[in-house]
Amino acid sequence: MTPRARITGTGSYVPEKILTNAELATRIDTSDEWIFTRTGIRQRHIAAEGEHTSDLALKASRKALESAGLDARDLDMVIVATATPDNTFPATATRVQAMLGMEKGAAFDLQAVCSGFIYGLSLADNFIRAGQAGNVLLVGAETFSRILDWEDRSTCVLFGDGAGAVILSATAAGENPDGGAGVLSTHLHSDGSLTDLLYVDGGPSSTGTVGHLRMLGKEVFRHAVVRLAEVAEEALEANGLNCGDIDWLVPHQANKRIIDSTARKLGMPSDRIVLTVDHHANTSAASIPLALDEAVRDGRIKPGNLILMEAMGGGLTWGSSLVRW
Ligand code: ACO
Repeated sequence: MTPRARITGTGSYVPEKILTNAELATRIDTSDEWIFTRTGIRQRHIAAEGEHTSDLALKASRKALESAGLDARDLDMVIVATATPDNTFPATATRVQAMLGMEKGAAFDLQAVCSGFIYGLSLADNFIRAGQAGNVLLVGAETFSRILDWEDRSTCVLFGDGAGAVILSATAAGENPDGGAGVLSTHLHSDGSLTDLLYVDGGPSSTGTVGHLRMLGKEVFRHAVVRLAEVAEEALEANGLNCGDIDWLVPHQANKRIIDSTARKLGMPSDRIVLTVDHHANTSAASIPLALDEAVRDGRIKPGNLILMEAMGGGLTWGSSLVRW
């Protein structure tokens, strides 16, 4: 029987430094009221000088391994979803592999910006289903504070730094994957003709600089509310489920208005949505695993629960996943 990937552990880490809306308002022409009513964000965490994406990823990974009851030597693969790697190369994942003391397997980065965690879930699930990996560490880790234009009030208020990690393990031989826990489906999309809506204006082969994030916020918003509802419906339909079957919606945390609009379209009540955007802001690929870990650790997500995840990001890329916990 084809093995299925189960999420057997979660972990997360956010840098110590908190930057509140009120502090931002002392540096740029903005206000807590403007940011909160437009986005639902109150604060974000900012990596310290010398604290890299790999450092955040490592801390989240150690917690995920501990919660799965595994040692790094049990891992076959490390995938780090990030748009803010430590260096152009090598992959941040190989640094994490070395820092964990993992002795075998493969490590690589995945770049799908805010959809990176959903893309990574799909990859890990497929490696496990194909029998090519037994235990995969999937991390979403970002230091977006390093690519923000801190003079541009329309973007710099929206993002934060952090990392979330999950361990995906193959279901044991003989376990019934249809009735049990595991990744039920993943659906991925992209439309490269929409690159100009959200991008970084630098890179190794274009400008030779790191660059800054640029965004047409209203346009991104418009695409997000349509595509996210669509891809969530696609996941439900593919599994013969409806919104009433979902215990928790764990969306990418970009903007509370996008999340509310998607939930309204799906008919999902607000008390079944895991929301962290108020205290994390948009942490790109890290936002879903950060939210997952929070809801697992505080007891909201319980074994047997059906979890719907969705995300959209630069590219544009978007996707969804249904997971039985
Ligand atoms: N503080 C105060 N005023 C501001 C700020 C700020 N931080 N930023 C912009 N403004 C001003 C603008 O200059 C504009 O002023 P003007 O009317 O005098 O020109 C006014 O506020 C309205 O600006 P809009 O851009 O029209 O504001 P809008 O209501 O569209 O909200 C926002 C902007 C929050 C960026 C919204 O478009 C949005 O959330 N878009 C989605 C973008 C997103 O979440 N991207 C994340 C990555 S993709 C993803 O993860 C889905």
